Amino acid sequence: MSNITVAQCLQLAHELESISDSARLDIELLLCHVLKKNRTYLFTWPDKTLLPEQTEEFLQFFNRRKSGEPIAHILGQREFWSLPLTVNNSTLIPRPDTELLVELVLELFADDSVQQRSCLDLGTGTGAIVLAIASEKPEWQLVGVDRSADAVALAEKNRSALQFANVQILHSDWFSAIPAQQFDVIVSNPPYIDPQDPHLDQGDVRFEPRSALIADNNGLADIELIVQQSWNYLREQGWLLLEHGYDQGQVVRDLFRARGFVQVETRRDLGGNERVSLGKKGAVS
Ligand SMILES: C[S@@+](CC[C@H](N)C(=O)[O-])C[C@H]1O[C@@H](n2cnc3c(N)ncnc32)[C@H](O)[C@@H]1O
Repeated sequence: MSNITVAQCLQLAHELESISDSARLDIELLLCHVLKKNRTYLFTWPDKTLLPEQTEEFLQFFNRRKSGEPIAHILGQREFWSLPLTVNNSTLIPRPDTELLVELVLELFADDSVQQRSCLDLGTGTGAIVLAIASEKPEWQLVGVDRSADAVALAEKNRSALQFANVQILHSDWFSAIPAQQFDVIVSNPPYIDPQDPHLDQGDVRFEPRSALIADNNGLADIELIVQQSWNYLREQGWLLLEHGYDQGQVVRDLFRARGFVQVETRRDLGGNERVSLGKKGAVS
C-alpha cells in the first residue's frame, strides 16, 4: 500500500466503530504511538505523509485493533493514576474505576500523624494500585503480590521503571508467601466475575487471562477468602478495601460484618455503581 496521510489514517476510524466505543480516540492513540507525537500534532499536520515504515506499522496496529485486540495491548502501555504502566496479556489492563480504591486509601489516611504505614496489595497485576499509592506515600512500606509469575515480572518491571524503592513485589498465592506481619491497610482488586458471565465473551476481557477475572461461587470465592484471611494480617484499626462487581456490594458488606469488621461501607465508581467496600478491624469508634 502507498503511504498515507495523517488525515487518511484518521478517516479509518469509521471502520472501528463496530468494535469500539472510542474509535476516533483509538486511531489517534495508534497514530501518536507510531509517529511519536502528541494528539495536537495530528490536528496541526493533517496532510503529513507517513514514512513507509510508519505506514506499515500503523496498518498492522489498525488491523489488530479491528480484530478486537485492546489498545493497551497493542501499545503495550496504559496510564493509571497518571503513571505510565507497561501492560501485557499476563494480567488485567488497569481500569479507571480502580482509581477509586487508591482515592479511598488516601482519604482514610489524609490527616494521619503517623508517617510510616504499611500496605499490602493482593493480586497486584501490573502493580497499578500499589504503585499509585506509593507515588502518593513515599514514606510507606508497600508490598504487592500475585500468583501469576508473569504478572509478578510485569509489576516488578513497572516498579523498577518508576524507581519506587519502598515497594516490594512478591510471588504469592494470596497470603501464602507473605511474611508474618500485620499491615495498616490491605487492598485488593481480586477476580470477581462469575465464570458464566456472558460479558466474558465481549470486548477487551476476551484478551485478558481468566485467572485475573473469574472466581467460583458467583465470583465471590476470592473475596470470601481475602475477607477471612486479611483479619490476621491487619493491625488493630487497620483497613481492608476491596473492589468488587457492581451487584456484589450488599454481599461483600455482609461478609465484612460477619468477619468482625466495623465502619463497613461501599463507595460508588464514576458510573454510579457500587464498586469498593471497606471496613476497619477494631471496635466501633
Ligand atoms: C482483577 S486483576 C487486578 C490486577 C490489578 N490489581 C489491577 O487492579 O489492575 C486480579 C489479579 O489477581 C491475581 N490473582 C488471582 N488469583 C490469585 C491468587 N490466588 N493469589 C494472588 N494473586 C491472584 C491475578 O493474577 C490478577 O493479576
